[in-house]
Amino acid sequence: MSEVSANPNIAFIKYWGKLSSTCDEDRNLATNASLSMTLHKARTQTRFEFSGQSATTKICIGQKPASTADVEKTTRHVHRVLQALQHRTDLAFSIESENNFPQGTGIASSASAFAALTFAVALEVLGPRSFKEFHGKNLALLSELARQGSGSASRSVAGPFMKWEGKAATLFPARFGLRDTILIFSRDHKKVPSSEGHLSAQSSPLFSERLLRLPARLKQLEQALLAENLGTLGPLLEEEALELHEIARTGTPAITYLSPESSQFIEFLRLQKQRDFYFTLDAGPNVHLISERDISADLKVLLAKLNLKCEIWEDEQGFGPEY
Ligand code: DP6
Repeated sequence: MSEVSANPNIAFIKYWGKLSSTCDEDRNLATNASLSMTLHKARTQTRFEFSGQSATTKICIGQKPASTADVEKTTRHVHRVLQALQHRTDLAFSIESENNFPQGTGIASSASAFAALTFAVALEVLGPRSFKEFHGKNLALLSELARQGSGSASRSVAGPFMKWEGKAATLFPARFGLRDTILIFSRDHKKVPSSEGHLSAQSSPLFSERLLRLPARLKQLEQALLAENLGTLGPLLEEEALELHEIARTGTPAITYLSPESSQFIEFLRLQKQRDFYFTLDAGPNVHLISERDISADLKVLLAKLNLKCEIWEDEQGFGPEY
């Protein structure tokens, strides 16, 4: 049996919009390059083992049997990894996968889930020693496979910073020590999956302008990360996050991911000019705050002042899956 834990990542420049694909290898290719920070405490823990030809495949997510859609998606991904490693695909297997953070709320659980699954299958097929060598030499292949499960998973195969361009993500050589403090305003599963958001984005009248603007924003953001300059990085993060939500709001169908509470918090924050923490958002209602120092005490004061209730998840940067 293999056991792997992988972390979600928070995108600083977002993957929002896919190229149309004609085959499985082309699944989840992005319309733009993206850059993210891998997290450390939030994780998906996945156990994988083959159970023999006559057994039936069992997949449990969060200690419950997976839904038909999740069984299909997961089985397809296992076969994809097995095929890439030239391993037979006719054996039944069992998977147990659990998150230590709430799913579908803007902490990218599909990223950690597919990174963990990709590693767990490869580890089981190759064995610990060969996998270690394979991992050292084939990070791009692992990233490419993880991407075929879920685009953002391509960036969860290493850390702390990953840049995804084309088929796979690679390490971006910055060492800026940042934290991600997440305000969980809602634990409800998000109503619109990001796969639908990627589709609707392209119908937004703002989408083509965004694609033109992104290379310059990415360059500036990379420079700010390398220079370890949060004052330059922060406004870029906020501009990027707001743009994603504006594109979602103006696409067809229109999608609103923010809740009244998260909108209220962001509006308040935007008026505070003297800050050393900055927000970013994924496709969900929760707010990620990027900082160099521990800001949880300041946030508690701020939330009380605004009369807002939420859970606070304090995370920091991570270095990729552990097995
Ligand atoms: C808003 O990776 O979840 O988090 O490829 O369809 O699985 P699929 O989409 P997914 O999209 C993530 C979108 C995002 C931004 C990002 O992580 O870059």
